[in-house]
Amino acid sequence: MAATHPLFTAYPVEDFRRREAALVEATAGVMRGGHYILGGEVAQFEAEWAAWCGVGEAIGVANGTDAIELLLRGLGIGCGDAVAVPSHTAVASISAIRRAGADPVYVDLEAASFTLCPDSLEAALRGPAGGRVKAVLAVHIYGHPADMERLAAICQREGLVLLEDGAQSHGATLGGRRVGSLARGAAFSFYPTKNLGAIGDAGAITTDDAALAERMREIRQYGWRERYLSAVEGVNSRLDELQAAILRVKLGDLAESVARRQALAARYREGLAGHSLVAAPTVREGCTHAFHLHVVRSPQRDALMEYLLELGIPVARHYPAAVHQQAGYAGFAGQSPGLRETERAVAEILSLPLHPWLSEAAVDFTIEAVRAWPVSG
Ligand SMILES: Cc1ncc(COP(=O)(O)O)c(C=O)c1O
Repeated sequence: MAATHPLFTAYPVEDFRRREAALVEATAGVMRGGHYILGGEVAQFEAEWAAWCGVGEAIGVANGTDAIELLLRGLGIGCGDAVAVPSHTAVASISAIRRAGADPVYVDLEAASFTLCPDSLEAALRGPAGGRVKAVLAVHIYGHPADMERLAAICQREGLVLLEDGAQSHGATLGGRRVGSLARGAAFSFYPTKNLGAIGDAGAITTDDAALAERMREIRQYGWRERYLSAVEGVNSRLDELQAAILRVKLGDLAESVARRQALAARYREGLAGHSLVAAPTVREGCTHAFHLHVVRSPQRDALMEYLLELGIPVARHYPAAVHQQAGYAGFAGQSPGLRETERAVAEILSLPLHPWLSEAAVDFTIEAVRAWPVSG
């Protein structure tokens, strides 16, 4: 494979380079202060993240997978229960459901947005595991909000809890409200490549339900209500003070950095318009897309990927297989409805380079390469 073309910088490193002084100062402050676990930085970040999302509560945890697990545990969803979830997601969404003790019921996607299809959810609820489904985990994949209005109507009718996996969607909105405020609870990852990324692992849960927040705060620290006294069973999944300090620095300009992603996505859309073999992402009315990833579709995806990689353009597949197609999690596919759109999408998706520090020149270089792709005729 060709070396990466110098126009394409790696996002986490570039992000650090641009903020180095502020990050070093913030982390040095934590180190000098000596309060390393659940101190002032975590408390302040929680307040700032709750305000950013437009909810009453945020709970900092160790990573995004734990955030989903703690949400389910906090709601009492576990052994014997099932959670409806798209199979087109990071495997972490499913791993978290299993860690909580529940089973996934895979749901198909809506082709235009790649998010959970409400009709397929209805089919899953009528399927063999439908009676065990207690919650629906809507993943705002790539940064596009799921169809929360339709999903909420189904959940209300069926008595199910609607939850968000917001790991890829910091800054996306639906009806003017930010993700993280669109359901009973939401889980976020701050993995270094995310729209808001730590320098290591980090995550958070948001909710307006103060009692649920309190239970999750207990669970994240051994089930303690008082120090050294476990009121419930818990785990160790605390957000680290150093990571909280880093996240606070980066949260300061998250709105601008999401806007920059959107501007670059618009440039791609314009540059690729009318291409017969490459379709740019679309955005459902009423939503804004946070463009964590910029994913195009092509019926000749493998040839396109090989061609762009040869030119040193760092493209990737998110993901090379749907979760139900992966050996570790294939066992639950039998209790799921057909996943035809998911399997079709998985064979056609390609993520083009996009991050807030990427230059227009890098985007134009990619557009020109796609336009010059020999098989495109
Ligand atoms: C959709 C989705 N859900 C959950 C996660 C889990 O986050 P983490 O890697 O922080 O555990 C990720 C990130 O990897 C993700 O992309």
